[in-house]
Amino acid sequence: MKRLYVETYGCQMNVADTELLLGVFGREGYVQVDSPAGADVLLVNTCAVRDNAEQRIIGRLGELQHHKGPTSVLGVVGCMAQRLGARLLEQVPRVDIVAGPDAYRNLAALVAQAAAGTRVADTEFRSWEHYEDVPPVRERGATAFVTVQRGCDYKCTFCIVPYTRGPERSRIMEEVVREVRMLAAGGTTEVTLLGQTVNSYHDGEHDFADLLRAVGEVDGIRRVRFTSPYPTDFTDRVIEAMATVPAVCEHVHLPVQSGSNAVLRRMLRRYSREQYLEVVDRLRRAIPDITFSTDIIVGFPGETEAQFQETLTLVEEAAFDDAYTFKYSLREGTPAVRLPAPVDEAVAAERLERLIEVVRAQARRKHLGRVGRTMEALVERPAKRGEFLLGRTRTNLLVLLELAPSAIGEYHEVLLTGTTGSTFTGQVVRSQLAVLT
Ligand code: 5AD
Repeated sequence: MKRLYVETYGCQMNVADTELLLGVFGREGYVQVDSPAGADVLLVNTCAVRDNAEQRIIGRLGELQHHKGPTSVLGVVGCMAQRLGARLLEQVPRVDIVAGPDAYRNLAALVAQAAAGTRVADTEFRSWEHYEDVPPVRERGATAFVTVQRGCDYKCTFCIVPYTRGPERSRIMEEVVREVRMLAAGGTTEVTLLGQTVNSYHDGEHDFADLLRAVGEVDGIRRVRFTSPYPTDFTDRVIEAMATVPAVCEHVHLPVQSGSNAVLRRMLRRYSREQYLEVVDRLRRAIPDITFSTDIIVGFPGETEAQFQETLTLVEEAAFDDAYTFKYSLREGTPAVRLPAPVDEAVAAERLERLIEVVRAQARRKHLGRVGRTMEALVERPAKRGEFLLGRTRTNLLVLLELAPSAIGEYHEVLLTGTTGSTFTGQVVRSQLAVLT
């Protein structure tokens, strides 16, 4: 048996892509191993969204080279592989294969070439590629990622993804539903639908509202999540489906990027601050208790102090429950490289700190108001604090629970007993066993 070792960096779609890679190599008779030492093939599934992600990966490749045996093959796949292509072969001497997100079907052939001594890069876009015939190899569990759309057509000026994942394409709805049925038959009760602008999903016949209904109706599926939606793609139909399909969870991760209209325009986001807030408002009115998380970039070219302040006030106005915050990172090949007035690194760093403070205070306010309430939690995994398990509510709140490891995969009603400001502690009030087979 040949041995495959994989490391995954970046977003949830990369996690899902790694499951595809395991499918591709599984068909070739490979087994997955936990350690790079002695593996026949070593793969690093990479992210290109910010420079620090790439630097970390370059560092890691340097380490992995040492674990590489004389006959083993080291491959870099994913967005950084697509972005750098053959340049990566020059930069890292012991990398044998560079393969972008549309090239995974060819990986076994690329490995054979590399094993015969030819280092190769495949960064061709294949806009038809869905890997429909490659069954992802997943760890059996209550929750699973399901890719429903690949690529992106939005071309936000800061973002490398349209150039690493290629044009947007949606899977046929029936194929998605078939996959979810198989997952449910294997004991999965929660699915997260993945796409770069997932609510713009359209397979030619069905839109995202149809998809939510179809997936939500699958027997055994108790929770449906999706990430990441684009603000202006929340049609009334989609909101109606979210409000009426019981399985669809009351949480939306809705990247806003900035609270300033001037900055949003330069980013080529397709909404204003006011339109964004209106979408949040429509969702809140349709779905009681819905929570919101977001992504925010500070220090985008030309961002003034006053414009940054508008981001701070937006965090409070939108009353986010959580936010992922980033310092702008210039990506070669994106339209934003042509924008004037880069923000000084130290200024951006200082803005990031202030933003994190405001986000924390905002989240804390909302979380304190939730202590004392009872909610359903799905027990996901052991928490970092060893003696606890980590549960997640439908609204995406994390709850530390004192339960035996056998409770993983179960749903419980939990009383939120306290909060650190970001996570909660909770107590099971009424047991409710999941239908796990
Ligand atoms: N610099 C900083 N953050 C970025 N993101 C995407 N591109 C960049 C960049 N060039 C952030 C956005 C996006 C998240 C996944 O990463 O906030 O929503």
